[in-house]
Amino acid sequence: MTYILGIESSCDDTSAAVLADTTMLSNVTASQEVHRKYGGVVPELASRAHQQNIVPVIHEALQVAGIPKEELHAVAFTRGPGLLGSLLVGTSFAKAFALGLDLPLIEADHMKAHILAHFIQLPAENKKVPQFPFLCLTVSGGHTQIVLVRDYFEMEIVGQTIDDAAGETFDKAAKIMSLPYPGGPVIDKLAAAGDPDRFPFPHPQAKGFDYSFSGLKTSFLYFLRDSLKNNPHFIDENKEDLSASLQKTIISILMHKLTLAAEHYGINQIAVAGGVSANTGLRRAMQQAQADKGWETFIPPFSFTTDNAAMIAVSGYFKYLQKDFTTHSAAPYTRGGIG
Ligand code: KG4
Ligand code: ZN
Repeated sequence: MTYILGIESSCDDTSAAVLADTTMLSNVTASQEVHRKYGGVVPELASRAHQQNIVPVIHEALQVAGIPKEELHAVAFTRGPGLLGSLLVGTSFAKAFALGLDLPLIEADHMKAHILAHFIQLPAENKKVPQFPFLCLTVSGGHTQIVLVRDYFEMEIVGQTIDDAAGETFDKAAKIMSLPYPGGPVIDKLAAAGDPDRFPFPHPQAKGFDYSFSGLKTSFLYFLRDSLKNNPHFIDENKEDLSASLQKTIISILMHKLTLAAEHYGINQIAVAGGVSANTGLRRAMQQAQADKGWETFIPPFSFTTDNAAMIAVSGYFKYLQKDFTTHSAAPYTRGGIG
């Protein structure tokens, strides 16, 4: 049995997890409430909160797992992409921890890790995992990608957003409606009580398997501005229908390109990952596609949709098997990642 400690600190969640091979023994996350009142993540505050959270989070992860730190085989950490100040906290801690215990250090790519979260097993679980090659729609606050996954580490982005990410579109639309941050879960909840066909919004075009969302955001903004001229209470009176219509449009844009990619590559193993994969409508659309298109779909449990360290630890496990270790000079990277 190989015990890996995973550390994730790329954005605003401080997380630590312990895995025994691919089985999750613990996954502890401290979320940062401090950003809520600013309507978005404030990098400097995130970095400071990580510094406060990291020791107790790691302590708890080891305690819940029941694994003394001396029994660990390696430490895996998120090297990037993410916010520099946030990444520095996890990276520095991982290095110091590994040095102190004479453990190998393993770097993980945050976006690849979101995909590899599909390989995490819960204790006493024998969940079916995607077969290679598979396609993964990776949708978060900062990314929207269709990734061709050939192997645990051989991944190719075959389509991606040329402007805003899907999560960012949810968040910006919520901000326009004066809803709290992060807007994705709020819109999801409101959409459940709304009519998705009430307001038709455009599907911005992008070539190949790429996405574009900025035109949708702009037309949503202009539509609300015009409607508010006639009725100052328009948003309040229609927020459920607005949310449902916007959500339906985003999902339809996501699923359209994913379907084209699946047909092009002749792949029927289709996964979804990242924060937006928590969206009820997107999860339903994936299940529907399984029935309609003959796909075998993989939808992560809610706890693995948003940022977590279990996905970093499982990435670390696969690298550990290959003895793919990192030197202590590895500096965080803020952009890029897969490919
Ligand atoms: O992967 P993630 O936790 O962090 C990043 O790496 O970006 O994704 C966060 C994004 C936010 O934009 C948030 O609004 C969105 O995921 N999100 C959702 C839902 N839950 C989180 N979007 C739509 N519906 C949801 N239920
Ligand atoms: Zn993420």
